[in-house]
Amino acid sequence: MHDLQSLIVGLLCYPLLSLRLNVLTGIRAQSTATTSPAINKSTQEAKKTLRKGNVVITGASSGLGLATAKVLAENGKWHVIMACRDFLKAEKAAKSAGMAKENYSIMHLDLASLDSVRQFVKNFRQLGVPLDTLVCNAAVYFPTASEPTYTADGFEMSVGVNHLGHFLLARELLEDMKQSDYPSQRLIIVGSITGNTNTLAGNIPPKANLGDLRGLAGGLNETTGSSMIDGGKFDGAKAYKDSKVCNMLMMQEFHRRYHEETGITFSSLYPGCIATTGLFREHIGLFRTLFPPFQKYITKGYVSEEEAGNRLAQVVSDPSLTKSGVYWSWNKNSASFENELSQEASDAEKAKKVWDMTEKLLGLA
Ligand SMILES: NC(=O)c1ccc[n+]([C@@H]2O[C@H](COP(=O)([O-])OP(=O)(O)OC[C@H]3O[C@@H](n4cnc5c(N)ncnc54)[C@H](OP(=O)(O)O)[C@@H]3O)[C@@H](O)[C@H]2O)c1
Ligand SMILES: *[C@@H]1O[C@H](CO)[C@@H](O)[C@H](O)[C@H]1NC(C)=O
Ligand SMILES: *[C@@H]1O[C@H](CO)[C@@H](O)[C@H](O)[C@H]1NC(C)=O
Ligand SMILES: *[C@@H]1O[C@H](CO)[C@@H](O)[C@H](O)[C@H]1NC(C)=O
Repeated sequence: MHDLQSLIVGLLCYPLLSLRLNVLTGIRAQSTATTSPAINKSTQEAKKTLRKGNVVITGASSGLGLATAKVLAENGKWHVIMACRDFLKAEKAAKSAGMAKENYSIMHLDLASLDSVRQFVKNFRQLGVPLDTLVCNAAVYFPTASEPTYTADGFEMSVGVNHLGHFLLARELLEDMKQSDYPSQRLIIVGSITGNTNTLAGNIPPKANLGDLRGLAGGLNETTGSSMIDGGKFDGAKAYKDSKVCNMLMMQEFHRRYHEETGITFSSLYPGCIATTGLFREHIGLFRTLFPPFQKYITKGYVSEEEAGNRLAQVVSDPSLTKSGVYWSWNKNSASFENELSQEASDAEKAKKVWDMTEKLLGLA
């Protein structure tokens, strides 16, 4: 039953209808489609002498992360550091994607362990190379789980990996990005439409809702409180959506705290519904068989992994996407525009609370 419901919930990835809904309900989706600025001679000259940029991508062993790594490794301007929990899987994935050895490295990172995050930062610093861009892409999703699972530090896994692990990583690596001499530094946190309750997709239950954050404050653990941020009963689909709201809130809070001082571009994006990725691996077979064609032919919200990879690669590398504090989306002609976030996902007061509580949980404050 739950999975039939999930099939209908397949709409959760449906961006086009939600855009139309935005228009109908008067929610403004700014349609400033971006075009590349004309490149004149002196900018071309500057490009020739520009060193390769170094970009760290978490969860680059499959799906969106791998597709993005491939685009950037192939365009000759980037060295991609694939930050992955399964080294061998990442190696195989890079090879079968046809990435050339000189254009990427793989480093171990398990976001479900704060020690692993700290060790990754140490290892990265030992490389002695500058960090120019960080992409927080990895995620887990447990829509059918009836019980929570926990990270090494005892936090519910979805929020633990998607939000907490990335927050620690981004806070640490911000220091490294400050040292970069590259023309543009960017910190990108992959968001999702599903956490955005100003869209049709985001309104399919269970809706994201962080409530008064009591569960987060209590450490996201059922043995001592609640595994859910709002203090409620465990719900895997909701935990994922909540974690994505945190991702989008943290991007904006980073922007408010650090953009002016550092010049770093902070951005988030909804790449489209990539119905074929491993993110849906926890769904039963029926769902996984029906979901991609459903997205492709019925809702038309579907994008291929390749197209989604191109989109995220633009947010990494396109000279016209340097604006900070933006949640990027793409229209049906694949032109990028600055999208609007839901009320909760753009609530500055809540963002500050989540930031402060997260710092406390992670021992940063
Ligand atoms: N698919 C969609 O329709 C969709 C829509 C909107 C947004 N997104 C977002 O896109 C991003 C990528 O998702 P995807 O669809 O590409 O899913 P995916 O194929 O499942 O990729 C997720 C990646 O995260 C990695 N990962 C999971 N747990 C980790 C951990 N503890 N430490 C380090 N890495 C870990 C996975 O590693 P393994 O390879 O080892 O499992 C995998 O490489 C996510 O942020 C997701 O929220 C996806
Ligand atoms: C070319 O671009 C540079 C830097 O982007 C700018 O300073 C210069 O005025 C431009 N030159 C012309 C001829 O447009
Ligand atoms: C690797 O990067 C170089 C530039 O450093 C580029 O010329 C080459 O095409 C890339 N190789 C592959 C297979 O993408
Ligand atoms: C969190 O939950 C796990 C699994 O139930 C338990 O082993 C662990 O001790 C708990 N951690 C904290 C900090 O409460």
